[in-house]
Amino acid sequence: MGAALTAAGGFAASAAPHQPVALRPSAGTISLAAAGKLDIAAWTYNGSSPGQTLRVKQGEDLAVRLHNSLAEETTIHWHGVRTPGSMDGVPYITQPPIKPGAEHSYRFACADAGTYWYHPHANSQGQLGRGLYGPIIVEEEKPIAVDRDLVWMLADWRIGKDRQAMEDFGQLHESSHAGRLGNAVTVNGELETVLRVRPGERLRLRLINAATARIFAPEFSGLSGWIVAFDGQPVEPRSIGNGKNYIAPGNRVDLILDIPADAPADAKFAIEDQTYRDRFFTIAVIAVAGNAVRTKALGKPAKLQANPLGTPNLPGAETKSVVFEGGAMGRMRTASLDGEPLPLRELAQAGAVWATNGQIFSSLKTLHDGERLFKLDLGKSYIFKLQNRTAFPHPIHLHGHTFQVLSRQGAPLAEQIWRDTVFVFPNETVEIAFVADNPGDWLLHCHILGHAASGMIAAIQVG
Ligand code: C2O
Ligand code: CU
Repeated sequence: MGAALTAAGGFAASAAPHQPVALRPSAGTISLAAAGKLDIAAWTYNGSSPGQTLRVKQGEDLAVRLHNSLAEETTIHWHGVRTPGSMDGVPYITQPPIKPGAEHSYRFACADAGTYWYHPHANSQGQLGRGLYGPIIVEEEKPIAVDRDLVWMLADWRIGKDRQAMEDFGQLHESSHAGRLGNAVTVNGELETVLRVRPGERLRLRLINAATARIFAPEFSGLSGWIVAFDGQPVEPRSIGNGKNYIAPGNRVDLILDIPADAPADAKFAIEDQTYRDRFFTIAVIAVAGNAVRTKALGKPAKLQANPLGTPNLPGAETKSVVFEGGAMGRMRTASLDGEPLPLRELAQAGAVWATNGQIFSSLKTLHDGERLFKLDLGKSYIFKLQNRTAFPHPIHLHGHTFQVLSRQGAPLAEQIWRDTVFVFPNETVEIAFVADNPGDWLLHCHILGHAASGMIAAIQVG
């Protein structure tokens, strides 16, 4: 595992809030297993993958000075944080890419408490796929009382026969299917994580899916707990017991996990994942040892205080249709690439196989130069009707805004939760609503990064 990390997620805290944190992405080596048993070449922030946890109090500024020590351009995007447009870190769309050897400063206030993350937005599949990402925690004024507050940043790696991380990113066959899945899953950059706990302990577990394609659905059998936030936004605490809790790339889930007070001192709880048929695995093991922290089970935690998000005015909202097409086994026959209509065969030759409302852009540069998907009025409410007309699920991420998920397949949802990345299943329609209250140019894209790289990326303009 990386330099400053422990299996339990005990990252080094960031410096004083108004002092910029220096982040230096560079090529290096990390250890995915103890005792140097699996050292791989990777790209890191300040020598570790994940990079250090950036922690600020709600309402305070986060300031970062990026020193690009990679041999290629990069940027940093603050996934889920509602930054001003100029701070969003998207090459061409919001800033020039940062050249090798160059530096760039980011500073913005974090209005919303919760769990967020940072990652590059240049060559995203290659840069995240080699280990560039880190957690952001914006602390609530009144957090839920817990014994330990831990981050589990989930990712995967494709380890080859030579026991090195493979660099076969961007293969069209994978990009036109479910994306590039690795064969080794890590928690905070570590394989086969064991988290040691005491009986009766109450943990806050912040799960972040930083994988480029893998969908997680952790199962906590034998443990009781509560989901208290999705994508950083508080929800009425709900039991973890019921059904699959998908965490798609980009998503976060905050859990309150209660270790049974009467758990025997050598009990082990395996957190399993059965998302992909025939590829079941254990995400991590929770191992109980020591004396009980408390003897009585704790009750349901209180709901965290809501973030200051503008509530969409639904009766006055304008509905926009967003249709995703393409990919293997899809029905797309033609689309326009950088403004030029082309048949599917030629699109595939150009590596452009997913379209949004019939449009594909070959790069962020041509996307910047092209027409915006929509121009939205500042302050107005919008409903986006996201229609997945493909054979694959897609986690759709909107930059600069947090939206309410209103309905799936036309059926209104009981709790209209807030998200910044919503999972849309094959042939599903999901309606989201938000107030277009953040002026700028904002991406709307799939967070399966091979899909984004092969076309599933659009831009809207607000104001
Ligand atoms: Cu997590 Cu466009 O980003
Ligand atoms: Cu996708």
